[in-house]
Amino acid sequence: MATTALLILAAGKGTRLRSEVPKVLHRVGGDALLGHVLNAAASAGLDPADTTVVTGYAAEQVGAFAAAHGARALRQMPQLGTGHAAQVAASWWRDYRHILIVNGDMPLLSAATLRALRAAIEAEGEAAPAAVLATAEPGEPRAYGRIIRRGDRVVAIVEDRQATAEQKKIRELNAGFYAFQTAPLAAALGRLGNDNPHGEYYLTDVIALMAGEGLRCAALPLENADEILGINDRRELVAVDRLLRRRKVNQLLDEGVTIYYPETVIVDPAVLVGADTILEPGTQLLGRTRVGRDCRVQAYSILVDCVLEERVWVKPHCMLEAAAVGEGAQIGPYTRLREGAAIAAGAHLGNFVEVKKSRVGRGAKAMHLAYLGDSDVSGGVNIGAGTITCNYDGELKHATKIGEGAFVGSNSTLVAPVEIGAGAYIAAGSVITADVPADSLALGRARQVAKDGWAARRRKARAAAKSAPRTDAKR
Ligand code: UD1
Ligand code: CA
Repeated sequence: MATTALLILAAGKGTRLRSEVPKVLHRVGGDALLGHVLNAAASAGLDPADTTVVTGYAAEQVGAFAAAHGARALRQMPQLGTGHAAQVAASWWRDYRHILIVNGDMPLLSAATLRALRAAIEAEGEAAPAAVLATAEPGEPRAYGRIIRRGDRVVAIVEDRQATAEQKKIRELNAGFYAFQTAPLAAALGRLGNDNPHGEYYLTDVIALMAGEGLRCAALPLENADEILGINDRRELVAVDRLLRRRKVNQLLDEGVTIYYPETVIVDPAVLVGADTILEPGTQLLGRTRVGRDCRVQAYSILVDCVLEERVWVKPHCMLEAAAVGEGAQIGPYTRLREGAAIAAGAHLGNFVEVKKSRVGRGAKAMHLAYLGDSDVSGGVNIGAGTITCNYDGELKHATKIGEGAFVGSNSTLVAPVEIGAGAYIAAGSVITADVPADSLALGRARQVAKDGWAARRRKARAAAKSAPRTDAKR
């Protein structure tokens, strides 16, 4: 067990979001608010085993999210304020020497800030502070707690609602990230009152209580005031989302990726993109997607959990999910790749081609209107327009195998399970229900008949009917 614990306050509903979803599970920049905070903690080297999330509203959901990150959850019922939340968890953190406490609704919290708070509170000696709190001076005024100082000491935090006109002018604000020695914190929490407009127990009030005892409370001014942007309503939600998206896109630009109209491009935090790759407007690279060097992802294509090797060209309006695409392959426009699509190097897939749980071999082509499901398509195969693998019999899925260099004529229906040998030809319009030997031609359709003179006879008969005298019953 480390000597420093981390407590994340996340019991609130987030009333102003007007949502059934608990506030900290709303997503910005590709992750939940709480996910960002937990990731910052992990990057700062804080062990999830020393992390507890205070839950309340939708406690099961929030608790499960925390558990997925290896942290534990503690329920605060009812929610009587941030000070009360810290109090409820005291039986857990009392065993540590220091504790970091952060609001769970602040996704811009950085690992650097957590590290700095930890270093400041773990400092030993005469000047060791009892409390350290992050502060910032953003450009525009915000309804945050104001920092009351005496020299380099903080003597109180005054909440916006209770601040006098004079105090409201103070520009230094309480970020909502704190570090404490646990012993004086426990003592101060025990003396906390709720004499304020909300009748809540404010964590911020412990500062005045500690300072009144002569304990040292220090400020940790943040360089980047954006870090204190919290999320209380949907406007703040989308503003922070934009900021996080912009940050990721800027990182990729710095790494050598060209991104045109970057404000329209959405890239999740874990996505990797190689240098010299070009992303066009409206593209989305989501989940754990990895894109190699020198690729091109054209307008409005969406990639989720995909792996693209080098020099892949994804044309506009493709939807690719959990697919792997080999070097130099060309996909789209309007291609759909689903889970387990493995497209080998140099393959070409064109418009309205859907591939699911299938391998498409080296240099193979399916340029128009095809469905390949549960298939193994070897290298050099040509799949004609309108070809469909009938992989589903209503109960079970079956496999289709197509050998090296086979040619599947347009509008063929391949009824699985079925195997087409290498180098075989399938005549256009065939319904293939039995295996086709290598190098053979399979015709699976009715033989065409041409009836000599049929059309001419028909025209003549019609013309004759027109010129005949009318036989009208009502003459
Ligand atoms: C809090 C601070 C304020 C600071 C601001 C920065 C207090 C009293 N005020 O105000 O000084 O400038 O953050 O964003 O702390 N929560 C619980 N249990 C509760 C109440 C809240 O877990 O009983 C959680 C919320 O879910 C939220 C966090 O604590 O994640 C902060 O609470 P919130 O009500 O948003 O505080 P602010 O009004 O933002
Ligand atoms: Ca808040």
